[in-house]
Amino acid sequence: MRQAGRYLPEYREVRTRAGDFLTMCRTPEIAAEVTLQPIRRFGLDAAIVFSDILTPLVPAGIELDFAPAPHIANPLRTPADLDRLRFPEPWSGTEFLSETLALVREALAPETALIGFCGAPWTLGTYLVEGSTSRSFSLAKAFAHHHPGVFDALVNRLADAMAAYLRSQVEAGAQAVQVFDSWIGALGAEDARRWALGPARRLLEKIGDLGVPRIYFANGGAHLLHDMRDMPCEVIGLDWRADLAMATRALPDHALQGNLDPGVLMGPDDAIRARTLAMVAAAPRRGYIANLGHGVTPDVPVRAVSTFVETIQRYRYE
Ligand code: CP3
Repeated sequence: MRQAGRYLPEYREVRTRAGDFLTMCRTPEIAAEVTLQPIRRFGLDAAIVFSDILTPLVPAGIELDFAPAPHIANPLRTPADLDRLRFPEPWSGTEFLSETLALVREALAPETALIGFCGAPWTLGTYLVEGSTSRSFSLAKAFAHHHPGVFDALVNRLADAMAAYLRSQVEAGAQAVQVFDSWIGALGAEDARRWALGPARRLLEKIGDLGVPRIYFANGGAHLLHDMRDMPCEVIGLDWRADLAMATRALPDHALQGNLDPGVLMGPDDAIRARTLAMVAAAPRRGYIANLGHGVTPDVPVRAVSTFVETIQRYRYE
């Protein structure tokens, strides 16, 4: 999950100096520094490289800025607009990220893993059509239902481009990859199978030869557990709406990741400890990455994150 960010005073300090978020992403020394901040503070088992799911859309001709919410000045609203989306082949345009990955890998202890990531085709598709984060996803759904075949083509192109992008991250030093389907929860099962899980499967299959663990994070995907049973990945990441014990039974062939509600971190330490222990107890013994169910929000106290992490670090299986 997102672990760097505005809840950390050391992040806010760097951000004030650097100016805007995209400049931070594009400056390897700065991106590497903020990637390492949560590792130094909490001693986590893995670092996720500092970037955003939307930055690889810029080399395809998308005009992007963050304020801090993402905004696209030239969204794709009609089938003809898709001609404007041109991903570089072979992949290029994110050399700053490769440099960041190399810098972070060099700085990390050998036992700390480095995770690369991308957005899933459906989630990126919503941003391309909507131009921003949405509550209802009306514009993306309007596009998909008016032009289902064109929307299929869009998400398939995104799958192919993100496969090439993740490949470039692994070549630069990423030892695991995470695909964020942050907005799959907006879709019913039938549409999710067609426009989210199908193209995500295509993406994950394409990187199977890289030999690194693949994590598929389905935010709001509790209604899709059975549909994810054969996803070509090693780990399924779940948000807090999924029951972890139920997911452990429904997904027997996957390791699981998650899934504490980040909102629990707004509560007292006792509650954080109790909920974290209950989470770990419900998790599969066959393979499990203890984590939040979504990124840390800016208002979460640093103390609460420490309590969460320490509770997990002290936990021992009987
Ligand atoms: O911990 C890390 O180093 C990971 C960095 C990371 C960011 N974005 C940095 C970021 C990761 C993994 C992401 C992924 C991302 N970006 C997702 C998928 C994960 C999820 O949370 O579901 C999504 C949907 C986005 C799109 C996005 N980027 C949004 C909605 C926002 C605004 C968020 C907000 O807090 O207002 C961003 C901006 C963004 N990406 C920030 C950070 C640290 C905040 C920018 C700032 O510092 O001002």
